[in-house]
Amino acid sequence: MKLSILVPVALSAAFLAGGAMAQDASALLKSKNCLACHDAQAKKVGPSFKDSAAKYAGNADAANLLFTKLKTGKGADGKSHAVVAASDDDIKAIIAAVLATK
Ligand code: HEC
Repeated sequence: MKLSILVPVALSAAFLAGGAMAQDASALLKSKNCLACHDAQAKKVGPSFKDSAAKYAGNADAANLLFTKLKTGKGADGKSHAVVAASDDDIKAIIAAVLATK
């Protein structure tokens, strides 16, 4: 009896936590102004996140390379980027979301 009440509660808590994480990243993309120059699917001032995810697919160093580029404004590929004013954790969460774009 007790268990049948607890299981659905635990499941919906896990579901809510997952939903909150996804929303955090998309809220960050907005609040950190990424969407002024980027769109998930379409090229704007910068490449679409979908294209960047495809470009870095299979690159084990992708998260590090993009972290350095966004944090310092200089990429290992010599291209410069607007310096992103956000905490390291927020930048990492944003990059994970970008690299997961389909
Ligand atoms: C002022 C415009 C501008 C803003 C704001 C901006 N970007 Fe960019 N972004 C660009 C341009 C232009 C490029 C292409 C040059 C390059 O590769 O660095 C780019 C490239 C990128 C790339 C691909 C880099 C690569 O090595 O292929 C990613 C990923 C990216 N931006 C993510 C972000 C994120 C996340 C934010 C917000 C935190 C952001 N950008 C904010 C203009 C912008």
